[in-house]
Amino acid sequence: MFQDFAQVWTPVAFSSRLGRTRPLRIEVAGTALVLFRDAHGAPAALLDRCPHRGVALSLGTVVDGCLQCPFHGWRFARSGQCVEVPWNPDVRRERLAALAVPAAELAGQIWIHTSTGDPPPQPPSVHEALLGTRTRISGIEMTWNTHWTRAMENMLDWPHLPFVHRRTIGKDLVALLGERLETLIEPQEWGWRVRTALHGQVRPGMLDFRRPNQMNLHIPVPGRELTLAVACIPVAERRTKLLLSAARNFARSPLLDGLFNRANRRIAGEDRAIVESSEPPEIPPARADRSVPTDRATLRFRHYYFSALKGSTCAAPPT
Ligand code: FES
Ligand SMILES: [Fe+2]
Repeated sequence: MFQDFAQVWTPVAFSSRLGRTRPLRIEVAGTALVLFRDAHGAPAALLDRCPHRGVALSLGTVVDGCLQCPFHGWRFARSGQCVEVPWNPDVRRERLAALAVPAAELAGQIWIHTSTGDPPPQPPSVHEALLGTRTRISGIEMTWNTHWTRAMENMLDWPHLPFVHRRTIGKDLVALLGERLETLIEPQEWGWRVRTALHGQVRPGMLDFRRPNQMNLHIPVPGRELTLAVACIPVAERRTKLLLSAARNFARSPLLDGLFNRANRRIAGEDRAIVESSEPPEIPPARADRSVPTDRATLRFRHYYFSALKGSTCAAPPT
């Protein structure tokens, strides 16, 4: 389970996608899961496979905060515990549990921890801009036909801005292409922060990588805060789900969400075909490609991926 992406917190869906009555199927790193809300509204995640006959629990319904299998109506609590087996009131239900995965809700998103068993002691790591009560967050979801590491690397790669985004966020960089722009990396507890400098002067704007799969771009707007946040979620070898959020402490009317969402969709749309054309689909180790000094941020991501995630896995407990 969760091949090459085990033991980490990841957002998996916007909270608004998960209602109280219908479960939601998601796929993370090749593992199919079903999300639902318990009687208190808290999100829960189970392996999307009924322990009885292996059907998809996501085809079932939520009844009293438990997930009811569509086939024979067994019901499962958020812990995976089987709480009802129709027509078999005397059966021992302890051995009939579904497999649970830790789940949480934070910053308008549902999160899972790619493990089984107890929730880890550390909650997901989120930038404070996404938690502020005076912040308005709007979001869109996209799917790219690429390995998540290519999508993630693209989010950390600023040298492509004046080419791929020459009409949008890269416009101001076009005039600087003849200069030597430095990449500065500041290690942080949660990952690292990337800035650029020209003639020894640090330029406004910064980009954070938050392990394992989030990017936060802080856009300089005088006196205001505008943060674009992207999570790249592995689905399959050539499929990545992107959650793109815009967090702002101005223009907070929900009526303006569409404006920010359209901008995000346009910018990500500029990247898409180029990133999807990358071969091999998964990023290769740092030394396998030709690189230059402005690749520092993406090379650092490669190092992180190959040392911390590649090869990680989560064995399903014996039943
Ligand atoms: S397959 Fe789920 S209850 Fe039978
Ligand atoms: Fe881009």
